[in-house]
Amino acid sequence: MTTVTEAPAPPGGATKGRVVGAPVDRVDGREKTTGAARYSAEYPYPDLVHAVLVPATITRGRITRIDTTRASAVPGVLAVLTHLNAPRLKPVRRPTPFDLSGAVAGTPVDYLNTDEVHWDGQPVAVVVAESLETARHAARLVRVGYEEAPAAVDFTAELDHAEPDKGNPVQPGRTAKGDAPAALAAAAVSVDLSFRTPPYNHNALEPHSTTAVWDGDRLTVHEGTQNIGWLRRHLANRFGVPADGVRVVSTYVGGAFGGRFRVWAGTILAVLAARAVGRPVRLMLSREEVYRTVGGRTPSVQRVALGARPDGRLTAIVHTAVTRTGRSGGDNEPVTGVSRHQYACDNILAEQKRVRLDVLPNATMRAPGESIGTFALESAVDELAVRLDLDPIEVRLRNEPDVGPVDGKKFSHRRVREAYALGAERFGWAERDPRPGSMRDGRWLVGTGVATAYHPALMMGAQVTVRLSAGGSVLVRCGFHEFGNGAATAQTQIAAQALGVPVEAVTVEYGSSDQPTGPMGGGSMQTASVAADLLAACEKVRRSVLGLAGRSPDSPLRGCAPGDVEARDGGLFRVGRPGEGETYAEILGRAGRGEVEAAVGTGSRLAGVAGQARSFGRALRGLRSFGRAATGAQFCEVRVDSDTGEVRVSRWTGVFDIGTVVNPKLAGSQLRGGIVMGLGMALGEETLVDPRTGRIMNPSLAEYHIPVHADVPRIDVHVLDDPDPTMPLGVVGAGEVGITGVAAAIANAVRHATGRRLTELPITLDRLL
Ligand code: MOS
Repeated sequence: MTTVTEAPAPPGGATKGRVVGAPVDRVDGREKTTGAARYSAEYPYPDLVHAVLVPATITRGRITRIDTTRASAVPGVLAVLTHLNAPRLKPVRRPTPFDLSGAVAGTPVDYLNTDEVHWDGQPVAVVVAESLETARHAARLVRVGYEEAPAAVDFTAELDHAEPDKGNPVQPGRTAKGDAPAALAAAAVSVDLSFRTPPYNHNALEPHSTTAVWDGDRLTVHEGTQNIGWLRRHLANRFGVPADGVRVVSTYVGGAFGGRFRVWAGTILAVLAARAVGRPVRLMLSREEVYRTVGGRTPSVQRVALGARPDGRLTAIVHTAVTRTGRSGGDNEPVTGVSRHQYACDNILAEQKRVRLDVLPNATMRAPGESIGTFALESAVDELAVRLDLDPIEVRLRNEPDVGPVDGKKFSHRRVREAYALGAERFGWAERDPRPGSMRDGRWLVGTGVATAYHPALMMGAQVTVRLSAGGSVLVRCGFHEFGNGAATAQTQIAAQALGVPVEAVTVEYGSSDQPTGPMGGGSMQTASVAADLLAACEKVRRSVLGLAGRSPDSPLRGCAPGDVEARDGGLFRVGRPGEGETYAEILGRAGRGEVEAAVGTGSRLAGVAGQARSFGRALRGLRSFGRAATGAQFCEVRVDSDTGEVRVSRWTGVFDIGTVVNPKLAGSQLRGGIVMGLGMALGEETLVDPRTGRIMNPSLAEYHIPVHADVPRIDVHVLDDPDPTMPLGVVGAGEVGITGVAAAIANAVRHATGRRLTELPITLDRLL
């Protein structure tokens, strides 16, 4: 059982109040727990049909022959779509500042518009039938002949062919400050370790599903996505129809974690199939199909070499990495980026390379880059502490930077010292005997470890409308994404506080392109992004209401400037003068107004995507002035079976700085979820790839081991709840920081328990024995 940690009394009162900061229950909790919530594959349409994918069984090459006769002859089969008969797609557009939607293609591969095969498992046909069972059966009857082409799929074998990685706007591929190799060679004390992490795959509870319905050139798509606005635009571009005729509905989403940020084969092919058969199509991926068509985390090899003075002060940090993308697309994952931010040091070299392989492109997965980058860096820092005979927290604090270590920028906010101080107290760190193997409990070797968590803070623009009714109810509309993150609840609280009404008076409409365009739901930036424009819209509403009041000679608010009043108790009241004010019902009633509405955002609804690009650009420029991130301190205790090597995580404390905590229950869930996912990364999860074919060999929950409840200890999560002065409402994202540092904390605890430094994930018993 985990416990919910209440946030402490909020500082910085101006941005906080009774509602923001309260552990409000989820507004969608009842629907989700009673089964009333409808997910993308649950929308009923009277003439709905089902689609099933046929995967390629070669690694790379061309289709030379495709025999659909037997499949087509099965009663109930409506169509067998292949590259020979499928409707044509428009190519993926190059992203521009005005249309980023091309950037959400998981890969530019033209499914069923090409005879080319780019990875084992790429869909080469789609069977559409009256029932799912019929479609599945017929899909197995499709016979495909191929001409194979040479392919490279073995990450280890291709490391020598790695090419420089250009990086991205947030994270350059190479950073060099001072002369790190020389400083390393000259260092009094040093460590030099090589690390390996495997590929990991997405395993959201709800497999990716699409229900697609055409009506002429108008399209409705029910799809769990992190990117409603870009998905809509992307589908419009690829199917050559106007974007304002494309409707994306994504109300309930069973987990995302980055796996729903981009557009993958299932979505395109459901829409294509619906176009071809002229009926609504449902395409629900099996767990195996998620592995074969939705990208996961890159594998990595990393080197972290640290040089230090005898007092523990770092003189050199070298962090290099090789990652993998697909030859047909894939993301740069900023694995070494964390080493640019964590420790004060005069000589830092962070450099990434990548290899391109003939496999499904990799994709964002919770803290892409930082989650595996912190494993290497924070393991190496721990090993340095052992060499120095210093406490691992002490080594970190002696190197805690006052400004950005590479760029010299001020931190808008950094509470790593406080996180360690509080974590050490809550965890009981002082009771640790630092000698490896010194703590035993029967046959269990007990060890404890720490690691620093880090994830950058970003934001982008949203479009929000707020309508206040005379009766005191509030309607907020913004097409943001609720995939278990608690987004709908958080924004309900923010609106309730900004307008001084009870949470129950606020309705938030979200999760569809029917609403004004939301920000993307990724990069831990959604809460702050929506909050910025929601607060601005609420401010506009308050000013309108005050204007209405000011026109009446009878109003106690006559003559008040906006700064003289505050929203509370369902109305506007003079600051510091209880009782002097009026309810919204009184003000709107006297003015004969049924409602007051305000809209905030950039450009038109469809131009929202361009507006987002501009505001994201502003946020990036903001990062040029400030170092801004969520940080934290992870503490764990492991027990290692001295006979079998089995590792159990027995205790966990995480203390995080995520700026303002809008809702401690939601934040606690996000952070715990990140820690649990990190536990899987450290101890069980691993995508096994056949080095001859690139085929994923364990595409099921039976063989890909995610943590179950029995693997998860009580997780003590604490949040510092200190607003970031440069972020809307002081909010810094909570979605990703929780997973960072987790694998390192576990490896460091295993080192303490056993004396063994494990540098390869996952830490399975065969690696420990
Ligand atoms: Mo995230 S990996 O930006 O959903």
